[in-house]
Amino acid sequence: ASVTPLLAIETSCDDTACAILDANGTVLSEALLSQESHAALGGVVPEIAARAHLDILPNLVDLTLERAGLTLGDIAHFAATTGPGLIGGLIVGSNYAKGLALSQGKPFIGINHIEGHILTPRLPSALADEGITLSFPYLAMLVSGGHCQCVSVEETGHYRRLGGTIDDSAGEAFDKVAKMLGLGWPGGPALEKLATEGDDTAYSLPRPLKGRDGCDFSFSGLKTAVSRLIEPYGKAALSHRVAADLAASFQRAVADVMADRAEHALALAPQATALVVAGGVAANRTLRARLESVAERHAIPFLAPPLRLCTDNAVMIGWAALERLAQGERPNDITIAPRPRWP
Ligand code: KG4
Ligand code: ZN
Repeated sequence: ASVTPLLAIETSCDDTACAILDANGTVLSEALLSQESHAALGGVVPEIAARAHLDILPNLVDLTLERAGLTLGDIAHFAATTGPGLIGGLIVGSNYAKGLALSQGKPFIGINHIEGHILTPRLPSALADEGITLSFPYLAMLVSGGHCQCVSVEETGHYRRLGGTIDDSAGEAFDKVAKMLGLGWPGGPALEKLATEGDDTAYSLPRPLKGRDGCDFSFSGLKTAVSRLIEPYGKAALSHRVAADLAASFQRAVADVMADRAEHALALAPQATALVVAGGVAANRTLRARLESVAERHAIPFLAPPLRLCTDNAVMIGWAALERLAQGERPNDITIAPRPRWP
């Protein structure tokens, strides 16, 4: 039986998202609401996020169906993120999808959020502009607020984790340093903008784990180094000049470390046919440029899906479900519980 149209739900962090895909991965419709309330609180508050998902989800699903010109009865398969992520949101989204599946007598499939991120570049529309369809194996660097890891994607369902952060994610580092510099949350985009006005050689900052074997990441030492440099200014506001120089120097240090880690990852996955980045931090132009030059040196393409597919969304969950179902798997995960951690 056809598994499409397939309806997917993503609620693992602070974005409530729903998408409907057809058999070849065409997105029939999608809807996404980023919760605004966390900005004032300087980060995602899990309990608030879970309640907001619960408030929004029914209308969001209806809207997605309406946009596709479909009714619930037309949906052949339901999917939702079942981990990793904030447990409250995972419970809300996966139970809602399971409820819809049960009510329609259709199957439910639970999807790993990370798998969604790293398979998304294979979505037919993801790299359409580059005219490329991505084949296995490839190297995926997932850099966001929630995740920071390097994965060799060997085929659907077969992944080799080459390394990950031993403390903060790259996004957290950007957000924390942005906060020290008096910028809002999330801080990455504001920090990048400020950095364009600064001198990236003004301050010498550490390059944690640079040159080290493997491809683990560490950012807390870098963050601490920035806070030490700020300390002498006490409560007085940093001058624009100092803040811009710190932003630029920090960003350069992150890009240096990432480029080094990508080099090491490619040494561990020499068969990789492409270097792919995903996650919110992939928006950073300095980082992109550095990773692009690493890929060039290895004579493989550097690929980044459009930002709306790089950050959390439900299309990626729907696509990962289609890839799994295409392998002939027909799981019915209706009794599977969501998991906050899911390596
Ligand atoms: O993927 P994402 O939207 O959400 C998850 O964390 O899953 O990533 C958000 C992160 C935030 O930490 C944000 O500061 C960072 O991505 N970010 C950036 C930029 N745009 C977003 N970091 C550096 N430069 C940017 N331009
Ligand atoms: Zn994510």
